[in-house]
Amino acid sequence: MRNRQIFLKPEEIPRQWYNILADIKINPPLGPDGNPLSPDQLAPVFPMNLIEQEVSTKRWIDIPDEVMDVLSIWHPTPLVRAYNLEKALDTPARIYFKNESVSPPGSHKPNTAVPQAYYNKEFGIKKMTTETGAGQWGSALSFACCQYGLECKVFMVRISFDQKPYRKTMMAAWGGNCVPSPSMSTKAGREALELNPDTPGTLGIAISEAIEAAVADESGQTRYSLGSVLNHVMLHQTIIGLEAKRQLEKVSEYPDVIIGCAGGGSNFAGLAFPFAYDKIHGKNVDIYPVEPAGCPTLTQAPFVYDHGDTAKYTPLLPMYSLGHTFVPPPVHSGGLRYHGMAPTVSQLVDEGVFEARSVTQSKSYAAGVLAARTEGIIPAPESCHALALVVEEAQKAKEEGKEKVILFNWSGHGLLDLGAYEAYFSGNIKDIELSQKDLHGSEKVYEDYPKPQHLKSV
Ligand SMILES: Cc1ncc(COP(=O)(O)O)c(C=O)c1O
Repeated sequence: MRNRQIFLKPEEIPRQWYNILADIKINPPLGPDGNPLSPDQLAPVFPMNLIEQEVSTKRWIDIPDEVMDVLSIWHPTPLVRAYNLEKALDTPARIYFKNESVSPPGSHKPNTAVPQAYYNKEFGIKKMTTETGAGQWGSALSFACCQYGLECKVFMVRISFDQKPYRKTMMAAWGGNCVPSPSMSTKAGREALELNPDTPGTLGIAISEAIEAAVADESGQTRYSLGSVLNHVMLHQTIIGLEAKRQLEKVSEYPDVIIGCAGGGSNFAGLAFPFAYDKIHGKNVDIYPVEPAGCPTLTQAPFVYDHGDTAKYTPLLPMYSLGHTFVPPPVHSGGLRYHGMAPTVSQLVDEGVFEARSVTQSKSYAAGVLAARTEGIIPAPESCHALALVVEEAQKAKEEGKEKVILFNWSGHGLLDLGAYEAYFSGNIKDIELSQKDLHGSEKVYEDYPKPQHLKSV
């Protein structure tokens, strides 16, 4: 039998996260007055122990035993050699994927939900609020809150709420309370509904609602949690790349190409950052974040300062942004419908360490179906975007006759996304052509904001 899955022994699992802020330069987040934000200004929204992680520049940060204990329910996640996909593509490339679909909620998201819930609990918080696009993040935080005895309230982008009703049930199974966003329970939600009663919702609006719900709790025992974008989220996700590196070492491999889909940037960063460290220090590796052509933040938008949410509750973040009022078309990969991008990922795209790519919905589902038929797992629609580029790179390796090693993140399964597959099989997945007006119409929202510097870390 071939050695298809590569595991780690418990004692080989990384016990520290890798913090890329030790190795790169980055523009600071700015407060409402346009000055760099002080950590205290974030205190009503996040617990101080997580704020300290957000701003830390220590290269290695210990994973607490209590967090490791919960992560060990599904970690280490397997690194899989995709022999069948290689064969179907008749490629000389050796393709490996990190299988993050094996977590209880079905994606990489609990890698950060668990430590976030833990640090909130440690700080004395009783309830967490959040947004969710695809539903994977809301499920992950519901699961994590359940592990530590916290309450969890989730604002789910309406289009996804309607597309996948069982996500709400999954959250309820772990004790989470999921409502569609925009809702009437917050000012941000009411304003969005007044503007457009039929809005499909956006992650930007849902983030505003969840922040508002957290800071409105006068007891001070509620905090907000973000499933992507922020530095501490990228930090927690590095367990993916750190494990992958050790697993590849076991079979004496090192990747030539690294691929991950990018919504807010966390599963991509989690896989890529430990290898970006090598690239910053001289190693030759191509690293590609992949986004949908229907919401092409990194490939079409400028690098600016913008808010992370629609109601402008978040600080100004240095990132690629389509504008915080941008309403992405209702593409089926709900987790990739975000106007912005993690500042750390944005920085490394701006300086050319990462090269962003975009793919259409139809190409991504074609790759997803091929992957399901060869490797067995039905990928989440978000993961299908990574797969589309894997197929492209494997075909390129064939044309060039090169034995490349391709590593990608299979960020989640699509077992609650079958409506999207149904639409694909019945020919109802449309490739969205965004006009210049659609694409750039929301950019005026940040016209008068300060501009980030083009810094060079390398
Ligand atoms: C399975 C899956 N992959 C990827 C993403 C995109 O998020 P991020 O870019 O933060 O990894 C999501 C978001 O919901 C997701 O559910």
